Amino acid sequence: MCGIVGYVGERKAVPIILEGLKRLEYRGYDSAGLAVYCDDQTLGIRRASGKLRNLEEAIRLDPVEGSFGIGHTRWATHGRPTEENAHPHRDCTGDIVVVHNGIVENYLALKDQLTAEGHRFTTETDTEVIAHLVEKCSDKPLEDAVRCAVKQLSGVFALAVLSRKHPNKIVAARLGPPLVVGLGDHEFFVASDVPALLNHTRDMVFMNDGDIAILTPEGVRFTDFDGRTLKRATQRILWDPLMAEKGGYKHFMLKEIFEQPRAVRDTTLGRVGQGSGRIFLDEVDITPKQFQAFKSVRILACGTSWHAALAGKFMIERLARIPVEVDYGSEFRYRNPIVSSHELTVVISQSGETADTLAAQREAKQKGSPTLAICNVVGSMITREAKGAIYTHAGPEIGVASTKAFTCQLTALFLLAMYLGQTRGHLDEAESQRLVQELLRVPGKLETVLSHDSVYEELGRKLHRATDFLFLGRGVHFPIALEGALKLKEISYIHAEGYPAGEMKHGPNALIDEKLPVVILAARDTTREDSRTLYEKTVSNIQEVKAREGIVVAIVCEGDNEASRVADHVIQIPTTDDLLLPILEIVPLQLLAYHIAVRRGCDVDQPRNLAKSVTVE
Ligand code: G6P
Repeated sequence: MCGIVGYVGERKAVPIILEGLKRLEYRGYDSAGLAVYCDDQTLGIRRASGKLRNLEEAIRLDPVEGSFGIGHTRWATHGRPTEENAHPHRDCTGDIVVVHNGIVENYLALKDQLTAEGHRFTTETDTEVIAHLVEKCSDKPLEDAVRCAVKQLSGVFALAVLSRKHPNKIVAARLGPPLVVGLGDHEFFVASDVPALLNHTRDMVFMNDGDIAILTPEGVRFTDFDGRTLKRATQRILWDPLMAEKGGYKHFMLKEIFEQPRAVRDTTLGRVGQGSGRIFLDEVDITPKQFQAFKSVRILACGTSWHAALAGKFMIERLARIPVEVDYGSEFRYRNPIVSSHELTVVISQSGETADTLAAQREAKQKGSPTLAICNVVGSMITREAKGAIYTHAGPEIGVASTKAFTCQLTALFLLAMYLGQTRGHLDEAESQRLVQELLRVPGKLETVLSHDSVYEELGRKLHRATDFLFLGRGVHFPIALEGALKLKEISYIHAEGYPAGEMKHGPNALIDEKLPVVILAARDTTREDSRTLYEKTVSNIQEVKAREGIVVAIVCEGDNEASRVADHVIQIPTTDDLLLPILEIVPLQLLAYHIAVRRGCDVDQPRNLAKSVTVE
C-alpha cells in the first residue's frame, strides 16, 4: 500500500506534498515523511511515526522549504512503524532519497551483498536497498542510476527518487503499484493516486508497468527500464476536486454513505433504455455473440468487493440462467484452477489495483478466459488488463471501509445480469421494463433509508457496548450479512460474524445469550410470492434467537407485520425486487457500524491495521 507524492516546479513543495499525502492517507498511516531540496543546496528531510498530523507538527516545530521534493505515507510491511523506518530512505552519502510503495522480495540478498561492499544500513526496511543501489551508479545521470537499480529488484514497486546532486529532477519508476503523473504549467507531479493531484491539475498520465518517468520543471519524459523513449497519452480526469473533500460531514465514511443515491443513479443512467428496458454496456469489448457463447461466469474479488460478487451470483443466475462461481482473488491462483475460454471472468475492485485480484485476473486471462472489470477508478491496472469495464461512478472513495463503491458494484452487477439475460434470451421485454423501472426507483428509496439515520444512531447508542454481533441472512441477503459484519469489524473492532441463517443450528446457536445482538435480514419483495418461503424460514430463525434470549434487530420491508412483531428492534426499508433489496438493506448496517464506532471513539476513516488499497499480496 503506501502513498507517494512528488513535485517539481516553482512553488514551495512542502505544502503541495503535505496536501497530496493527506489525500493519500487512506493508503496507509503508520508513518509519514518528506524530503525537499533546500536553497542552501542540502536535502531537508522530516519524518514522523504515526499519522500525517505528526509529520505536520514536526515541520511546524522545525520548518523546511524547497521547490522540489518527494513525500510518503506508509503502511508497514517490512520493519515496525517507527520514525527510523519512515520514508524517505537514504543512501550512505545522504544525497539520494527514495520513497517506495511495494515489496522488494530479494532485499535480504541485496542487503547482504551491499553490506559486504561496505554500505551501511540504518533501517529494517526493504526500501533502503534501493537508495544504496542508486548510490552505486551515482556517477551516471539520475535516471540511468535508477534504471540500474530497478533492474536488480524483484518484487513490486512504485518509487520516486531524488538526488542532491541533480536539482530539479525527480525520477519515478513503476512495476506493480500504481503511479500517475500530473501535468501542470511548468510544474509536474507524481502520485500514487489521482485525488492527490486534483487540486493542481486534471491532466494526468497513468504510468504502465515497466515505465520510468523523468520529471523536471521543463517537462516529463517517459522511458522503459532500458532507456528507450516511450510515448504516453494524457487523460483528462473529470472528477471534481470537491468530491475528495469531506463537504461538512464529520467523516469521509459518513459523507460517502450519504452519497449513495447519487452514486447509484450515476452508475445506472446512460446504461438503461427507460422505455425499452434494454441495457447498454458500451465500454465492453466483448460482442453479444461472445456473450451468448459463454457457458459459465466466474467472479474474482477481495474484501467488500467479494461480498458484492456473492450477491452478483444470485443476480446473474436468476436473470441470465448461467452458472456462476465466486472466488477470492487471494485463493484462486493457488489451486491450478480449471478455466476455459467459454467462461467469462468478471473482476470486481473499487481501486482496480488490489494485488491479489489483479494476479487472479492474470491467471484467468492466461488460461484463455476473457475478463471484464467492474471498477471505480478509470485507467487503473485491472481495467487496463480487461476486455472492457463497467465503471461504477461512485467518485473517489476515501474512507477505508467501502460503502458507496459497494452499492455501485451491486448496481453494476445487476446491469450485467440483465444484459446477460437479454443477450441470452432469458429476459423478455416486459420483465426487463419492470426491472429497469425498479432500478430507477432505487436512488429515491435510498434517500428514504438515509432519512431514518436517527433510528440507526439510537440503536448504535443501545448496542455499542456489545462485544460480539451476529448478522444473518438467506439467499441474496446472506452476502449482505457478511458485509454488515465486516463493516462493524473494520471500524468498531467489535467481533462480528455473518452467517447463512439456516446454518445457525449447526453451531452458532451455541453463542446466543441475552448479551448477543443478532441482526437478521428479513426484507422481502412482497409482490413476489416465491420470496415468501425464504421469508417464513427467516422469521423462524428470529423465533429461535428470541427463544434463547438473543437481542434481535430485524431489517424488514415497510408494511411487514410478522418479523417485526417478534424482533426487539425493527428497521424498515422500502420494498423492491429481491435482487435489488441488498442495495437498500446494507445502508442501515453501514450507518449502525458507523454510529457504534463513533460512540466507541474509533478512528472511522482510518481503522487500525488496515489500508484501502492492498497492493501487496
Ligand atoms: C481493502 C479495503 C476494502 C476493500 C478491499 C478490496 O481491504 O479496505 O474496503 O473491499 O481492499 O479492495 P478493492 O479495491 O479491490 O475493491
